[in-house]
Amino acid sequence: MSESVNKRMDHIEAGHYWNTSAESWTKLSRAGYDIYRDYLNTPAAFAMLPDVQGLTGLDIGCGDGHNTRLLAQRGGRMVAIDIAPVFISHAIQSERENPLQINYQVASAVDLPFIDESFDFATAFMSLMDVPETDRALAEAYRILKPGGFLQFSITHPCFDTPHRRNLRDENHRTYAIEVGDYFRHREGEIDEWLFKSAPAEMKAGLRRFTIPIFSRTLNYWLNLLIKTGFQLEHVEEPRPTDETVSACPELQDAQVVAYFLHMRARKPGIRF
Ligand SMILES: C[S@@+](CC[C@H](N)C(=O)[O-])C[C@H]1O[C@@H](n2cnc3c(N)ncnc32)[C@H](O)[C@@H]1O
Repeated sequence: MSESVNKRMDHIEAGHYWNTSAESWTKLSRAGYDIYRDYLNTPAAFAMLPDVQGLTGLDIGCGDGHNTRLLAQRGGRMVAIDIAPVFISHAIQSERENPLQINYQVASAVDLPFIDESFDFATAFMSLMDVPETDRALAEAYRILKPGGFLQFSITHPCFDTPHRRNLRDENHRTYAIEVGDYFRHREGEIDEWLFKSAPAEMKAGLRRFTIPIFSRTLNYWLNLLIKTGFQLEHVEEPRPTDETVSACPELQDAQVVAYFLHMRARKPGIRF
């Protein structure tokens, strides 16, 4: 086999895929079609977030800066990085239009351009599972945190976002179970091609489809990695939409059946501030 066939995808190559998807992603998410983020993950993340008023924070894998801006509005003094220049240019444009003193930079989670112990907290909303070098990304987050600082992050749920997954639906088209399988297979950059399902066809017409490399890890892998890196696990959530949320956004009904997402907060040992 040739070398290119054997070579595992690294964060730089994965970043290129994200960059080519960033224009469509920004357009659709800003038009309100990233419904799992807007109706489920962001409310859950901010509900479990400690007070960040006056704290210096780093948002890792910030995309177009949607959640970074919410952190800044809560009083966090924010720096945010993403590997995809297209996302960062949209984030900087928003900062120009509505300044929140956020410092955006193109950088990789695997190689953070910051000195040791320079942040009070770090966030990574749905981004760490997109980094093949998961161990290096967590080690970097740990390194840049001050002792006593926390990392809060969300990922697709390892147990339910498995290589094999199928919704089982009743006669009313309601999901009543999710069939999962192949859980133990670590995907290493398999390309998933899609656009946000809830966006109407006319909105999607002509848009470049996302091409996203998938890196799946098991639950024990994530937990052991946090422990091995030195973090103390502090809080875990598996967000479930309420009935009211499902009424407002019926596409989320299947997220009431199993947990699609996992949110964790872990702390670097030290005196808390
Ligand atoms: C699912 S999007 C989430 C974006 C944003 N956090 C949000 O919640 O809207 C994943 C993000 O991770 C970024 N990303 C992927 N690999 C990265 C890496 N190695 N370093 C930094 N960002 C990365 C992608 O460019 C993308 O913006």
